[in-house]
Amino acid sequence: MLKHKDHFHGSDLELIEKTYGIKASDITSFSANVNPLGISPLLRNTIASHIDAISTYPDREYTALRSEIARYTETDINNIIVGNGSTELISLMIKIKAPKKAIIIGPTYSEYEREINLGQGSCRYYPLKEEDGFGLDIADLAKYLTEDVDFLVMCNPNNPTSTIVPRKSVRKLLDICKQKDIFLMIDETYIEFAKDYRKITCVPLTTYYNNLVILRGVSKYFAAPGLRLGYAVCGNPDLIKEIEKKKNPWTINTLASIAGEIMFRDKEYIDETYRLIDSERKRVTGLLSQIPGIRYYEPGANFVLVKILKDDITSEDMFETAIRKGLMIRDCSTFYFLDNHYFRFCFMTPEKDDELIEVIRQVMTGKSTGNTADALSDNMTGSTADALSNNMTGNTADGATGNSKGGSL
Ligand SMILES: Cc1ncc(COP(=O)(O)O)c(C=O)c1O
Repeated sequence: MLKHKDHFHGSDLELIEKTYGIKASDITSFSANVNPLGISPLLRNTIASHIDAISTYPDREYTALRSEIARYTETDINNIIVGNGSTELISLMIKIKAPKKAIIIGPTYSEYEREINLGQGSCRYYPLKEEDGFGLDIADLAKYLTEDVDFLVMCNPNNPTSTIVPRKSVRKLLDICKQKDIFLMIDETYIEFAKDYRKITCVPLTTYYNNLVILRGVSKYFAAPGLRLGYAVCGNPDLIKEIEKKKNPWTINTLASIAGEIMFRDKEYIDETYRLIDSERKRVTGLLSQIPGIRYYEPGANFVLVKILKDDITSEDMFETAIRKGLMIRDCSTFYFLDNHYFRFCFMTPEKDDELIEVIRQVMTGKSTGNTADALSDNMTGSTADALSNNMTGNTADGATGNSKGGSL
């Protein structure tokens, strides 16, 4: 059996094509966590008519876009900063705050650690506990927030655990952080997928806490990762001024800026996305609970983390079987605190989700209902072995815990 030694990003479809000989267009990415409905119809129908806008520079202040985001997030326009995806804002915030000693609540998205390590600071992970279903125990975390810690990173809902920390708990955490002069950065990239997200989002807390920034973007909920549009909400005017001073001008192109003004207004699409994900979240977890030998953690976002409880079956086995059917899941063995028994997948359409559930059932029960062997030989091209050895360089991000792990996407 072919083995892959590295994980694949949700965006690595070309690499998968090369490695497994499956055309990128035939792969369903259950690993990119992107809304399966595709882009907003309102955006699709109107964006082309704005093409001439690229012959001018964007508004340096992005006033129309920021005003639209302020309406969408129910905050003041002066609290909004826009960026080239939330990735630019993660980088910018960390550069500006230049943490000396940061704590990241993990397992989580790897960009925070990468950025902190690029600076002069050190970072450590606070591990969420599997036995708590990866929920956050604020009182326990507080023990690690010593006087020398100056920066804390939380992803809410968290990638890859899909767990949510309620606003009330974040408020308690912010009070502790305030006392100890710790800045809290919350990545809310997946927040709109959560049930009653307006009650969970910490955007309203930016009015009361000046040691808080919330990061969001349109890559996931609005299925627009190629647009590179992200935004931050922060209620600290001095910090906003500093960010604006240090930020490169025009990092959001004119079309992305106009797209943002349009898509946040597509209420029908926003509602339909929520309905689909909420219904698939309930249906798919119901199906998962009937499969023997696995455990899943209650998902709050549009993806779910699953643990394989059988020693002789690994996440790599699951990945290999699924990819040969054109279904790409995320092998989570590269995340800190997880191992090769964890995988993650996002909710897609009911038909596609059923296909994946069938694969998981097959792997766990050993009962094949499909045609895995045929799929295997049909999809392989001659270049497989080369592509494997050429592309597998391993992920060498050196973490504070001393492991060489670095989960991303
Ligand atoms: C938690 C989290 N934050 C940020 C990002 C990057 O988002 P963007 O495309 O807005 O830069 C990702 C992408 O997978 C993510 O999972």
